[in-house]
Amino acid sequence: MCGIVGYVGKAEAPQALLQGLKRLEYRGYDSAGMATLNGSGLAVRKAVGRIAELEKLVAEEPIHGQTGICHTRWATHGSVTRENAHPHFDRSGKLALVHNGVIENYLELRAALEIDGHFFKSQTDTEVLAHLIGREFDRLKERSKGRLVEALRAALLQVIGTYGIAFIHEDVPGVIIGARRGSPLVLGIGKEENLLASDAAAMVSHTRDVVYLKDYEIVALDAEGFQITTLQGDGAGYVISQVEFSEKDVSKGDYPHYMLKEIFEQPRTVRDAMRGRLAPEEGTAKLGGLEMSNAELRDVERIVISGCGTALHAGMVGEYMIETLAHIPVECEFASELRYRNLPVPKDTLVFVISQSGETADTLAALRECQRKGHRTLGICNNVGSTIARENDGGVYMHAGPEIGVAATKSFTSQLVVQSLVALLLGRITHLSHSEGLNIIRELEKMPDKVAKVLELNDRIARIAKKYAQSKVMLFMGRQFNYPIALEGALKVKETSYIAASAHPSAELKHGVIALIDESTPSVFIAPRDAVFEKNLSNIEEVKARKGPVIAIGTEGDDRLAQVADDVILVPEAPDFLTPILMVIPLQLLAYHIAVELGRDVDKPRNLAKSVTVE
Ligand code: G6P
Repeated sequence: MCGIVGYVGKAEAPQALLQGLKRLEYRGYDSAGMATLNGSGLAVRKAVGRIAELEKLVAEEPIHGQTGICHTRWATHGSVTRENAHPHFDRSGKLALVHNGVIENYLELRAALEIDGHFFKSQTDTEVLAHLIGREFDRLKERSKGRLVEALRAALLQVIGTYGIAFIHEDVPGVIIGARRGSPLVLGIGKEENLLASDAAAMVSHTRDVVYLKDYEIVALDAEGFQITTLQGDGAGYVISQVEFSEKDVSKGDYPHYMLKEIFEQPRTVRDAMRGRLAPEEGTAKLGGLEMSNAELRDVERIVISGCGTALHAGMVGEYMIETLAHIPVECEFASELRYRNLPVPKDTLVFVISQSGETADTLAALRECQRKGHRTLGICNNVGSTIARENDGGVYMHAGPEIGVAATKSFTSQLVVQSLVALLLGRITHLSHSEGLNIIRELEKMPDKVAKVLELNDRIARIAKKYAQSKVMLFMGRQFNYPIALEGALKVKETSYIAASAHPSAELKHGVIALIDESTPSVFIAPRDAVFEKNLSNIEEVKARKGPVIAIGTEGDDRLAQVADDVILVPEAPDFLTPILMVIPLQLLAYHIAVELGRDVDKPRNLAKSVTVE
């Protein structure tokens, strides 16, 4: 939520900043701004709306400088106005600051500063932080990089909350200072240039050498180098990592939207999620990142899976997968509930948290709460080096590559693949035979080609989407492994089309939902030929008997769905526990095409942000 970029080097900062900021637009997009040091002072541009508005403004009224910071906002404190857009300034107007996070005690701090004669122009918590740092700096006589860091330290010790910040000061040109607590901040190390950003994706045009900063670390950078210290003032060790992806991976290519590009990447991402992790000779999965021996895994009595949004839906599928293959009881819980719930968790419980970004505030808090209670926590993350990935005791990366469309697609199927590997591994330790394990591996190996086959249905799904795009309400129904897929299908439609979509276990229809059925309310049934196919068929009949239109997603070769449903989409056959990977793709495409048909901003739906780093 909110994205920040800083650039210091030999190039013109505004261009580098805008290029980086566009890569972070998924983090928030209600207003944007930048500040540069142009030799005689600060130059500032701010605009309400998308980053394109800021770009237009900078083209019309250019600013210059080789040091600068910028920000794209997802409003938390204060409405969407130019005044509330970042950067914010201190009392002297010489310090400009951008911030991602929430300063929880900003009202107290603001009141104290007001008594001290400070006036504020915005309603934001960020402006309070800028004043606080500026006041500390003004108390110091010497105007140097070291003093700026010292002032920051003094200010941050008064602050409660989360922050990823970057700021510049007129009196110390050619320097950017950054700090983090709870919000991500990555340092990019270039040649005669250095960068700072919320996500490495913003920097890949300049460098792939990065340092993922840790909480309570402060970085001071200029064109020649950087120093990382702790909030206490000690030197901090760091590791330079290489970003796995390139510029090509963060561009749209020939696709009209990131969402469509990412849906179409799934044959590769599904393969990458299992690459090097299948061990046919042992009939199991190898997941070294879990950092657990088979003996330790054998002792697991219970599993808790947690996450938010799409990641939670993936966890719900994981619950069915692990219970089916490994016979271990699993509970899946919203991270936002788990963090405050006093869940009685027995001793030998293993906790999995799932997060594409690895930065979601509620998921991180749930993870920390479980660790505090002494449980071993494992992560399933996509974003390498993210906070959740780092704070876990072990985990499995998805290797899906950057996901930029706000509506998650490819990360979801990667999460399903990873959990199927976890289920296989646990199953093989508990009771699955070698040949059963081997069969599962053979089925997993077929999945990328099956996914590619589902994508061939794109044109047909686009036609179906056109037919139903004007619906006011849509219902999604599924059972067992595919009940979470119904939830995910409804979420995709809500997120991208703003249609009121709700999802239910098919049999729950009779307990209320059926009252919504009429000729204008389509029901989407996820009905593969599995153990509950006949039951799903009866539920479809119940809808048809009330004249409700039905779109059914089923299994190739099936001819019974066509007899009852209005529109049928058939995907390749797979074992029951793998059907969700194939069933969700038509739903992603359906949501995408409905959104396009309605003229929605598919990649940046209103009010949403891809990475929710506030509670
Ligand atoms: C936001 C996004 C969703 C995502 C959820 C969890 O709400 O808009 O698409 O599923 O956060 O994100 P995570 O990065 O933790 O998977």
